[in-house]
Amino acid sequence: MKILQFYIQTFGCQMNENDSRLLHNLLLSSGYQATDQIENADIIIVNTCCVRQTAENRALGFIGSLKHIKESKPETVIVVCGCMTQQQGEAELLRKRAKHISIIIGTFAASRLPQYISLYQANGEPIVDVDENYENENLSNLPRGEKAPTLTFDFKAQVNIIYGCDNFCSYCIVPYVRGRERSRSAMEIEEEVRFLCQHGVKEVQLLGQNVNSYGKDLAEKTDFASLLRRLNDIEGLRRLRFMTSHPRDFSDNLIETIADLDKVCHQFHLPVQSGSDRILRLMNRGYDSAYYLSLLAKIRRIFPDAVITSDLLLGFPGETEEDFQQTLAFVMEAQLDAAYTFIYSPRSGTPAADMPLQIADSVKKERLQRLMDVQNPISLHLNRNLIGSRQEILVEGYSKHNPQYLCGRNYGNKIIVFPANSCPSVQAGDVAWVRVTGAQTWNLSGEICL
Ligand code: SAH
Ligand code: SF4
Ligand code: F3S
Repeated sequence: MKILQFYIQTFGCQMNENDSRLLHNLLLSSGYQATDQIENADIIIVNTCCVRQTAENRALGFIGSLKHIKESKPETVIVVCGCMTQQQGEAELLRKRAKHISIIIGTFAASRLPQYISLYQANGEPIVDVDENYENENLSNLPRGEKAPTLTFDFKAQVNIIYGCDNFCSYCIVPYVRGRERSRSAMEIEEEVRFLCQHGVKEVQLLGQNVNSYGKDLAEKTDFASLLRRLNDIEGLRRLRFMTSHPRDFSDNLIETIADLDKVCHQFHLPVQSGSDRILRLMNRGYDSAYYLSLLAKIRRIFPDAVITSDLLLGFPGETEEDFQQTLAFVMEAQLDAAYTFIYSPRSGTPAADMPLQIADSVKKERLQRLMDVQNPISLHLNRNLIGSRQEILVEGYSKHNPQYLCGRNYGNKIIVFPANSCPSVQAGDVAWVRVTGAQTWNLSGEICL
């Protein structure tokens, strides 16, 4: 019998990328084969994101483009999963608008995909499962490689430590589509990291919408700092990173713990969202700009090499020119290594979507440009300060933009590119030293130093 092949298209954040990896493993261990050629696929899986309208539009555009595949090969199983499907009323809408979809499966039901594929193949009836059902979620039983023998390991891996979010920032859809916070047991996480390191993984990034909430929901007495301690000494592990941290929950104890642990990278992604205290209150973020700046000062005092990045959200309902000016002044003061800037997009069902004074698109776009005009020179300036320094990097492989160059990341997660011919023995997965010789806004260039 022919072995069926699957293709996964992923939209969205690291959580979705990680879920796609788990689904990949799950399907391999269920006897399917992966393909990166969509035209060869018997099963096409679209893992969707809905954090902004633009993310939804990209996923919807992709789903639309699958219609002709289903028409020419009607036995193709088309699966739509991920955050978009979990929104109120979305599954019915998708069923009406995209009749070529075979299976719609929400974020809580992903582990049941193999059963649903068999069921669909047996009777050809479309399947929808978007129940918010934590009991059957079976997270810990999703194969993570150990049960998928054909899997090869990269030298970098991501490991989810907590699912869901309880913060309910007023603009954000994530708590509605990912449910309440659920931490994985520390033992299970440790086993997974140990397993990955035994298979050559050198760098692990711990994932969660707010990793600082880790353990709060568990019966065992643990927290994120204790988890880091537990993982730091695992043999073979060289670097441990994490994202995302909510600034409100970034405790002194956590800072002291990181200072104690040699493998935890001094990289901090702390989304601030706005520099206006009035807007931060409306966003329900639980801190003000003075608190955030004092947190930065504390981190920089203890880790002079800290790389601090952030997310900024523009055009929140009611954001005045004055609020925006405060964000610009804040960005000047914070001197962040980089900021990911987003235009606010109303998400149905969130409090902010119903707030008065929604901002016109033209104003949002103009503010985005002005914000980048302030942040980009700061990023460039901070990168230029590194010229002449020696940096330890983990080599990732050839640069996407120029195959004559290799690239790697330093402890702060900054990308450094260097000529591939300068040291032919260096390859992906190696730890190497480079001297920084040039700086751009988003990356550094350098040469191998021995
Ligand atoms: N859990 C993380 C962020 C997850 S979403 C945290 O709290 O920091 C990633 C980023 O998307 C957020 O930091 C925010 O800047 C942005 N975002 C969330 N909802 C948005 C919306 N409705 N419109 C535009 N950007 C949004
Ligand atoms: Fe969304 Fe806020 Fe949760 Fe982050 S912390 S996922 S922005 S609700
Ligand atoms: Fe998008 Fe879901 Fe992540 S909405 S940002 S894929 S948690």
